[in-house]
Amino acid sequence: MSVREPIGVIGTGYVGLVTAVGFAELGSDVVCVDIDANKIERLKAGEIPIYEPGLAELVEKNRSRLHFTTELSEALDRARLLFVAVGTPPTYSGDADLSAVHAVVGAMPPSETHALVMKSTVPVGTGEAIKRIFEEQGKGGFRYVSCPEFLKEGTAIADFLDPDRVVIGDEGGWAGDAVTELYRPVLSAENGGNARGALVRTDIKSAEMVKLASNAFLATKISFINEIANVCEETGADVVEVAKGMGLDDRIGPKFLKAGIGFGGSCFPKDVSALKQLAGNSGYHFQLLNAVIEVNELQKRRVIQKLQKHLGSLVGKRIALLGLAFKPETDDMREASSLVLSARLIADGADVVGYDPIAAEEAGKLLKGVELVESAEAAVAGADAVVLVTEWPEFKDLDLTAVAAVMRGKVFIDGRNLLDGPAATAAGLVYEGVGRGLAPQPETAQTPQTV
Ligand code: UDX
Repeated sequence: MSVREPIGVIGTGYVGLVTAVGFAELGSDVVCVDIDANKIERLKAGEIPIYEPGLAELVEKNRSRLHFTTELSEALDRARLLFVAVGTPPTYSGDADLSAVHAVVGAMPPSETHALVMKSTVPVGTGEAIKRIFEEQGKGGFRYVSCPEFLKEGTAIADFLDPDRVVIGDEGGWAGDAVTELYRPVLSAENGGNARGALVRTDIKSAEMVKLASNAFLATKISFINEIANVCEETGADVVEVAKGMGLDDRIGPKFLKAGIGFGGSCFPKDVSALKQLAGNSGYHFQLLNAVIEVNELQKRRVIQKLQKHLGSLVGKRIALLGLAFKPETDDMREASSLVLSARLIADGADVVGYDPIAAEEAGKLLKGVELVESAEAAVAGADAVVLVTEWPEFKDLDLTAVAAVMRGKVFIDGRNLLDGPAATAAGLVYEGVGRGLAPQPETAQTPQTV
């Protein structure tokens, strides 16, 4: 392998760590910089502060190429490309909070030989604003490249090493070429690589917009199928069959057509809202995104109506939540449906018990008033109703007869359509998925109460 360019990565959160270890795996020396001294100490000691399958192993494998420091100067001394992966959380207005990005910009010295490569998701126009700030601060020689991140939590390493596409936005010059060179091994043959990735070399604003538009489109797909699911519940169609039939059309595709109890996570809710605000701030009312957001909010709350349909008042009812993270294979609780659901249940007087295989510690910090237990079995014991919130694979193996036996009631709401409805019914549960109607109940099963 030819000698690979060393890089700096600023911010050792989720995106920063995966980017750092990904480039280390491809052969670069990587200086990881973070202002959090405690985090850097932990990383130096080999401790990985987030849960991501395969990440700890890959960090270990590439230990000799990964350097952790709180000193920006170490990255500036050893690398000319500085990838920025700091947080851009939503503010109260729904805009992105760019204070961490601006702190990084402000910390850069004048230089003719360095470039910032923006991985953090930022509003369209941020690159232009940063270039202007560089000019004003007498750092006009600093280059700027937009290189948005498309990693999915849970499969982030594979997404980095085997991307669908790599998007690089710049205004010509050495920096965009150098970033392209770094990604070369994961690009397709026609882009000089030996993998699958397509390459989009474009201007900075378009690169920034690709990221926001992609996430907004995927979120729209989810809200769309969730609305179809709700209509299926009214009409007796089965959304799983409908999604299968739709997804076989090449133009639609099968992915992101899983109906459920809403999308969460660090990206979709924030990016949809950021794009809506960005449009609004520039004078355009993005109607469709308003609906996408509202449908998602209502989708989380529909579970409450389903529970009330079966149980009547929820006061004093014990409701078990299986899975708390916003999706499986992560301990990330950001915008998780469990947050809204548990708060609504508690407000309605229910006793809420929750279990998550990985996210319990994170959940403990956020889910006030929820009893957290160590296993699915412990959660369902004595419950009047169970809600499957996150489709962790282990829930597929639940012994449903045993579940029905230890519950106080029999209601099982499968918020992710993970289980086999007829099997759940045969096990004695009153099973309801999303957009699938009530699974047929045997003669002996408890008749649902109406309110
Ligand atoms: C997402 C984007 O996929 C990724 O490209 C971007 O970089 C960051 O945001 P992530 O948040 O990790 O990644 O999760 P993803 O797997 O995309 O799921 C997001 C949410 O949508 C989850 O809450 C998931 O449960 C939900 N979802 C996803 C559905 O409800 N139905 C689906 O069909 C797919």
